[in-house]
Amino acid sequence: TDPAAIRNFCIIAHIDHGKSTLADRMLQLTGVVQPRDMKAQYLDRMDIERERGITIKSQAVRMPWEYAGETFAFHMIDTPGHVDFSYEVSRSLAACEGALLLVDAAQGIEAQTLANLYLAMEHELAIIPVLNKIDLPAAMPEKYAEELAHLIGCEPEDVLRVSGKTGEGVDALLDRIVEEIPAPVGQPDAPARAMIFDSVYDTYRGVVTFVRVVDGQLGHREKIQMMSTGVTHELLEIGVSSPEPEATKGLSVGEVGYLITGVKDVRQSKVGDTVTSANKPAEAIIGGYEDPKPMVFSGLFPIDGSDFPVLREALEKLQLNDAALNFEPETSTALGFGFRVGFLGLLHLEITRERLEQEYNLDLISTAPNVVYQVTAEDGEVLTVTNPSEFPEGKILEIREPVVDATIIVPAEYIGAVMELCQSRRGQLEGMDYLSEERVEIRYKMPLAEIVFDFFDQLKSRTKGYASLNWQAEGEQAADLVKVDILLQGDKVDAFSAITHRDHAYAYGVKMASKLKDLIPRQQFEVPIQAAIGSRIIARENIRAIRKDVLSKCYGGDISRKRKLLEKQKEGKKRMKMVGTVEVPQEAFIAALSSD
Ligand code: GTP
Repeated sequence: TDPAAIRNFCIIAHIDHGKSTLADRMLQLTGVVQPRDMKAQYLDRMDIERERGITIKSQAVRMPWEYAGETFAFHMIDTPGHVDFSYEVSRSLAACEGALLLVDAAQGIEAQTLANLYLAMEHELAIIPVLNKIDLPAAMPEKYAEELAHLIGCEPEDVLRVSGKTGEGVDALLDRIVEEIPAPVGQPDAPARAMIFDSVYDTYRGVVTFVRVVDGQLGHREKIQMMSTGVTHELLEIGVSSPEPEATKGLSVGEVGYLITGVKDVRQSKVGDTVTSANKPAEAIIGGYEDPKPMVFSGLFPIDGSDFPVLREALEKLQLNDAALNFEPETSTALGFGFRVGFLGLLHLEITRERLEQEYNLDLISTAPNVVYQVTAEDGEVLTVTNPSEFPEGKILEIREPVVDATIIVPAEYIGAVMELCQSRRGQLEGMDYLSEERVEIRYKMPLAEIVFDFFDQLKSRTKGYASLNWQAEGEQAADLVKVDILLQGDKVDAFSAITHRDHAYAYGVKMASKLKDLIPRQQFEVPIQAAIGSRIIARENIRAIRKDVLSKCYGGDISRKRKLLEKQKEGKKRMKMVGTVEVPQEAFIAALSSD
């Protein structure tokens, strides 16, 4: 295809502003999906995505569009909307010349609208502002057109108004794409360079790599090379998704399509890497490549210890399709054999856990998630701590924790509530701007550990659901952190150790001790529960010993009743874990570790 007739764009929006629905309408209007084949959120292929109604993996679709008697080839690249996957968003944007900035006409600009817009501006994309859902009775297109125009510096009349649901305005939007988004430019005769913006594992075809060709061309059966690693592969198939895969002879400048090489592991075809031709390799990698960096770690343990090999296999399978997932074996005295798993964020963790439970039928205990700490021990050695158990004993010179720049957008009446919450989470106010008379953008620098767990829920509940949040990692800073251990009868229970700010340590200790007091049944002897920082006890509870024998409940002689009770007790034993001499029911671990 002549690059002049190509338009590459993505749709950027805050979550739930209707990206997938609009994409569906475009597929229909351009005729690539027939009405009878249409199903909602056509492009969200994975079951889990459909269940949760979110787009995790970007997809690229080629669509024809007639404009002034000429046929254009559109490549629409769908981007994930959640902050956990922001690196993928950035790669998708790098594959485009333009972006549709989609805003819900009943909601207005939200935090991810801004975050995505800033990213699009960094990539110097042409931006087409679009108000969506104008069919809603609550839509206020005039008001939000003004807000949007003010934000990007255009006239309110330039803001398109569409409904992804009814299809109104979508034709005009497709025309605007031809008019306003520049055609791709590249050097057709230069050595091939294509940027990988997505890579998915398909059971039948192996890894499917989505690329945007920048220079030169890639052909069928060509030998290709991954520039970050130098690894070569033979191209078994090259093609475009329309949206079903269609093999072609090759891809040239500006085109977006897929490659299949038969490799089985997405880590050999990494998002952000540059593909070149092995026989005539390009000199320089396309800029901006990064390895995905896990931000949150948690231990995953099978409830039934014999499931450990199944868990390993399941994680290995998920990793084929998730280059950001990493894990290594971990042994806990309390929970047995499991894995320490690194995630991009909490959503990534939840999705992974849900897939392990649903697709691999595993019952899991996960330990409280934590971020990565840099700990300088007394001898000057700097340790990277991803697990409280790695926290060095003895004197510590410095602990550094990851921090983020957080952006929160709320109606002005909630400024106080938001500031109070952020201060209580060790946030430092960085700035505040009014988007309009009623809505404000508030910026805080905050420790990642304070934001990844229940912050968003708290924010939502304090603002009646009106606040939106976005954040991005901004390095590290020193903090006064300590490790709190929980001891049962003097024995440390590693699964309950946590690294927290000194100010929160006492509250954590008290909370865990009182939770465990209720969760652990009484034993033949008294069991002290203690929370400690090093050797200093900061909280204590006691589980009193049982006096009565279990059978004393059935007064007198009902033998069958007694037998039943004994059997029940035996059943229960199987589900117990021993911590020193204390029997702790499995459920106690699950309940104590679940957030509340
Ligand atoms: P993510 O993929 O999670 O980022 O969401 P999304 O932006 O793709 O939003 P999606 O298309 O899933 O739409 C979110 C909700 O808004 C769904 O319940 C849609 O049915 C609804 N919706 C989308 N577009 C319209 C519209 O034009 N009008 C109305 N009334 N509802 C819409």
